[in-house]
Amino acid sequence: MCTITDIVICGFNGSILKYCGEKMDYEYILTRLSKMLSPKRLQHSIGVSKTAEEMAERFGGDKVKAGLAGLLHDAAREVPVADLLPRAQAFGIVVSDIEKAEPILLHAPISAKLAESKFNIHDAEILQAIFLHTTGGAHMSLLDKIIYLADVIEPGRNFGGLEEIRAMAHSDLDKALLLALDQSIAYILEEGGLIHPATIEARNDLLIKQRTPILHTT
Ligand SMILES: [Fe+2]
Ligand SMILES: [Fe+2]
Repeated sequence: MCTITDIVICGFNGSILKYCGEKMDYEYILTRLSKMLSPKRLQHSIGVSKTAEEMAERFGGDKVKAGLAGLLHDAAREVPVADLLPRAQAFGIVVSDIEKAEPILLHAPISAKLAESKFNIHDAEILQAIFLHTTGGAHMSLLDKIIYLADVIEPGRNFGGLEEIRAMAHSDLDKALLLALDQSIAYILEEGGLIHPATIEARNDLLIKQRTPILHTT
């Protein structure tokens, strides 16, 4: 199967067509995305896409789904903050008090809606992974975990503690995710910010699975 990384090299787009339909090849997606994102953010998105493909290969996931979700995960990241709440409401997204107070969190569900409406992606797994990439959530799928982590560890990232997460992401996806969630929560606490309940649910879920591995085989 041709992956997005391969597509950059060989220009083949048959795998993407499976998810996006006619006329939606890699170049078309990149061109459209480049009108929505700054060059720096586009580079980040390509980094997440490639990292997600590598992780899907390593952990037995779908490389094309991982690549597409990675590429589009931040499609709404540069929507002006003042527009996020009205855009979310226009899409029918249920907005919590935390998201009203921290509207930047809404870029994740809005990105999922844009992936659907502007890029013709209707695959529920891809859309969910984009939806959850900022907060995480309970019962995350393999693709959800890959996109959350790829966003944290892509090559353009640089912060204290990152190398530990990167190293862990080569061997144990759940442990890497737990490290990333812990770091995110610690950072939010340090900043006096609001912790989204979905992030707590993601962490608790992983801890429960760690403590009772026989009951949780996925
Ligand atoms: Fe994001
Ligand atoms: Fe991102």
